[in-house]
Amino acid sequence: MPDTLTVTDNRTGATYEIPIEQGAIRATAFEQLRATGDEHGLLVYDPAFMNTASCVSRITYIDGDQGILRYRGYPIEELAEHSTYLETAYLLVHGELPTGPQAQTWVHDITMHTLVHENVKKFIDGFHHDAHPMGILVSTIGALSTFYPDATRIYDEEQRRVSIYRLIAKMPTLAALAYRHSLGLPYNYPDNDLSFAANFLSMMFKMVEPRYQAAPEIEHALDVLFILHADHEQNCSTSAMRTVGSSHPDPYSATAAAVAALYGPLHGGANEAVVRMIERIGSMDRIPDFVAGVKAGKERLMGFGHRIYKNYDPRAKVIKRMADQVLGVTGSSPLLDVASELEKIALEDEYFVSRKLYPNVDFYSGFIYRALGIPVEMFPVLFAVARTAGWLSQWEESLLDPEQKISRPRQIYAGSPRRSYVPPAQRR
Ligand code: CMC
Repeated sequence: MPDTLTVTDNRTGATYEIPIEQGAIRATAFEQLRATGDEHGLLVYDPAFMNTASCVSRITYIDGDQGILRYRGYPIEELAEHSTYLETAYLLVHGELPTGPQAQTWVHDITMHTLVHENVKKFIDGFHHDAHPMGILVSTIGALSTFYPDATRIYDEEQRRVSIYRLIAKMPTLAALAYRHSLGLPYNYPDNDLSFAANFLSMMFKMVEPRYQAAPEIEHALDVLFILHADHEQNCSTSAMRTVGSSHPDPYSATAAAVAALYGPLHGGANEAVVRMIERIGSMDRIPDFVAGVKAGKERLMGFGHRIYKNYDPRAKVIKRMADQVLGVTGSSPLLDVASELEKIALEDEYFVSRKLYPNVDFYSGFIYRALGIPVEMFPVLFAVARTAGWLSQWEESLLDPEQKISRPRQIYAGSPRRSYVPPAQRR
């Protein structure tokens, strides 16, 4: 059987043979379908990209029905168990796990870029004390582009490399600066003798002690959360990174756009929304009323549902297991019990079952962050820190893909036909 699709245009009776490649047809193949008087050929209409692939990617694989997530072929569960965030970042960017010397150089090169220019502290000082840290992050990441004008040379491999080191390295520094500003605390400099996760915790929480070393369980939990959030193929923020990157700005500007996309409550803001939702529910006896409200369409059960996963999100499984370990160190959380009970009730309810709504990565991650002493406003910021490696690998893949061009969707115009300008006095 040929790998083609036969299409008959009933307006003209013409038949077309459209090739099927890698389980897809090219939308441009429909341009040739024209009825008399058409200015352009048939368009493919797909708001929100429900069934449109915008790129060929070799980075992350998801099977939403089976609940499978792999980075460069490696199952997320194995990476969460054996890898580190920086090793996973190398894997995402380079396509292979690093050898010993490669890993050493990579960690060294990233660690050497953890400091930010002193002027960055001045911008952060200018933010209001209760500024949301995601707002601060969007602006300061964008502002970094002004410090590195050479980063605009995106087709210079060496420049791309150094931008990747800088962005992965400076994201936690900016995130911690935003946090310290919100509390009016002095800023902490990076401690390059610590691991990526431990350094982040030190920049967040060090007070007057000469060195802040988080408990190993806490450092490990944060590192695993970073691994789980490192990439997720063509989600909203990654698409923003690719789309903005397609007009060829420097990667700091494109990353600022990705952070902005992540900020929304339907994306990276969901973990914050979950904890606020559970706080509002407050106790087990109020769960049924809350669930009834969700089913009546009054609100959404945050942390449930996913465009791609129609099964348990594999990241949520790892996080749920880890939540118990972390709370073993930090002390139990009554809110986590409310969340577990809510999950149990939802998973047995016909509304959620029939729509294949399962817990996603955000349902439990917030409780771990909370147990680590991280305030809710910082949750999406941590997501951004982790996702930076994924954004950058997707950005670079897109730049080097000869099929990619500037992103420019088409539209179906449904507005007014041509009309003549009406002077103000004649308008009614
Ligand atoms: N609570 C209640 N109903 C839901 C939910 C939910 N969380 N999610 C989807 N539905 C219902 C929705 O009302 C619709 O029902 P009906 O067919 O009766 O109209 C059906 O399920 C399909 O929903 P949809 O809105 O068409 O699904 P989508 O693929 O466009 O949306 C989503 C995906 C993640 C935006 C959505 O499930 C949602 O809003 N979830 C809550 C927010 C959340 O947890 N986001 C984190 C996503 S994972 C991490 C990330 O990407 O950052």
